[in-house]
Amino acid sequence: MTARSGLWITLEGGDGAGKTTQANLLEAWLSDAGRTVLRTREPGGSEVGHLIRDIVLHHRGDIAPRAEALLYAADRAHHVATVVRPALERGEVVIQDRYLDSSVAYQGAGRVLDADEVRELSLWATEGALPDLTVLLDLDPTIARARLDADDKPFDRLEAEKLEFHIRVREGFLALAEADSDRFLVLDAAASPSQIAEAVRARVSPLV
Ligand code: TYD
Repeated sequence: MTARSGLWITLEGGDGAGKTTQANLLEAWLSDAGRTVLRTREPGGSEVGHLIRDIVLHHRGDIAPRAEALLYAADRAHHVATVVRPALERGEVVIQDRYLDSSVAYQGAGRVLDADEVRELSLWATEGALPDLTVLLDLDPTIARARLDADDKPFDRLEAEKLEFHIRVREGFLALAEADSDRFLVLDAAASPSQIAEAVRARVSPLV
């Protein structure tokens, strides 16, 4: 039997776009097809990352923009080195909620930092690691906000940002997808979960 090669899929999009639902559906489909799937996320996909997640999402008061970008990059460096790369080397499928595109969109487009610098920082942190496929669940931030409100969970630091911030984040994601159309699959997150899942499967099928 030949060893299967690893496959790395990341999900991106604003808060409330439905990434977790789609990750669940994709995981179930790939597991049924006999693949070993590792589900993970950033920030917080490792033990060290868990501690960093607590700072970036729940620290009360400001975090200087460069410090925030470095915290996400530190989480990412440790996560890729200790969780993602080993799983890919074992031939597993890694389904990951958020990766460096989130940093570019949130810390770059959303805040005051230069998007290219944020991207370079993450690429340095991970020795250039990029996913095989990135699914962008694109959603109007007004609809996303209504979904989050309906969830009735307390907002984290980023979710609590104003609508204009989330509009800039969305534009950041779409610009990234346009610049790297081979890696990205952009889907309308207002569609039904099953329609979205079908489109994801159609794109992933030839890769597994
Ligand atoms: P997420 O885990 O998707 O939140 P939740 O558990 O509430 O679904 O992401 C947490 C927040 O972190 C989200 O608002 C986006 C933000 N974020 C960044 O600002 N930069 C990054 O590099 C990453 C990975 C996330």
